[in-house]
Amino acid sequence: MKTLKIGVIGIGVIATTKHIPSLLKRDDIEIKALCDIEPEKCEKTKKDFGLDARIYTDYHALCKDPELDVVHVCTPNPLHCEMTLEALSNGKHVHCEKPMACTYADTQKMIEAAEDAGKKLTVGLQWRYNPAPMRMKQMIKDGYFGDIYYMKSQQLRPRRLPAYGVYTNKALNGGGVLMDGGPHSIDLPMWLTDNYDVASVRGVIFDKMKDYPEGNDLGPWDPNNFDVEDTAMAMITMKNGMMIYMETAWLINMLQEAPGVVASLAGTKAGADMVGPKFESSIRINEYKDGKLTVTTPEITEAVNMNEYDINHWIDAIKNDTDPAVLPEQASVVTRVIEAIYESAASGKTVYFE
Ligand SMILES: NC(=O)c1ccc[n+]([C@@H]2O[C@H](COP(=O)([O-])OP(=O)(O)OC[C@H]3O[C@@H](n4cnc5c(N)ncnc54)[C@H](O)[C@@H]3O)[C@@H](O)[C@H]2O)c1
Repeated sequence: MKTLKIGVIGIGVIATTKHIPSLLKRDDIEIKALCDIEPEKCEKTKKDFGLDARIYTDYHALCKDPELDVVHVCTPNPLHCEMTLEALSNGKHVHCEKPMACTYADTQKMIEAAEDAGKKLTVGLQWRYNPAPMRMKQMIKDGYFGDIYYMKSQQLRPRRLPAYGVYTNKALNGGGVLMDGGPHSIDLPMWLTDNYDVASVRGVIFDKMKDYPEGNDLGPWDPNNFDVEDTAMAMITMKNGMMIYMETAWLINMLQEAPGVVASLAGTKAGADMVGPKFESSIRINEYKDGKLTVTTPEITEAVNMNEYDINHWIDAIKNDTDPAVLPEQASVVTRVIEAIYESAASGKTVYFE
């Protein structure tokens, strides 16, 4: 089968830790182009990964490169929409990092452009592809939990703000933690229940911690270049009556045992959560069984690498003309919820979806 020729725009952390290494695990792709406004990043990456790739500093030029079939957009959030549209209009399939875009209107433009071009589009919401949520999803499908009416998703990081790049700058990043951890925490419960049908959103954001840069895992930041939220909470109600409580923070004096994106759920027959340091591959089920309240931790031995899962499904979707694992319509709803959280936080009111 044809070898897909791929170009990557934005040669920063996610390109060099997720996209390029996961793509290179396959022998049916070639990375033929890299683009960054800092060309030395491309040079270094080309050398580090032994790539035979052209280097661009202008993304328009990469998108026009006739040899490329696929473009991966790994730049800061406010650039996602324009770069995706440019790549699609040049007939490329596009993998865009999360959040899909900063506004719901932009995500809709991206979906329309992909339809018009007859090309595939996906978004990097890979946290759902850990063994624990995949097991939970199967159990939900099998009806194990009964009627699920309450879910919680959490990513509370005591001190883990990405102090590199543009993350603390609203104009350059589109927002703070809600644009960073938010997409995964909003997507996970919706993906688990296959329910993206939102009724309303009430959100709150905080920027209380910007003057406390000590002890950050990823280094200190400049409080004078920090105009985004470090914490966001939201109550999301779904049209079927289910409620999701979402919490995401880069900096918070509150402990969460699991160092990642986790979900818990309550159903009429049983409940479950992802707990502990091995939260990616362990779930805890609580239920009334054999005459008593019981807690069990089923063994999960499947090894899934979420980054490779995302990339493999993406490449397979292009080759086999199937849907990618993350549908753009799902990522679009996630952005709509993010937008509603900001709106609700600003107005103090609930935002209702039609
Ligand atoms: N899926 C995930 O779990 C995950 C994790 C981390 C980051 N991300 C997403 O990936 C994106 C990038 O994040 P990162 O952590 O790699 O940031 P980063 O700052 O390390 O990398 C971004 C790169 O884009 C380059 N860039 C900026 N403007 C450009 C332009 N006009 N043309 C070409 N290159 C340009 C920068 O020079 C930089 O090298 C963000 O949207 C972020 O939300 C996703």
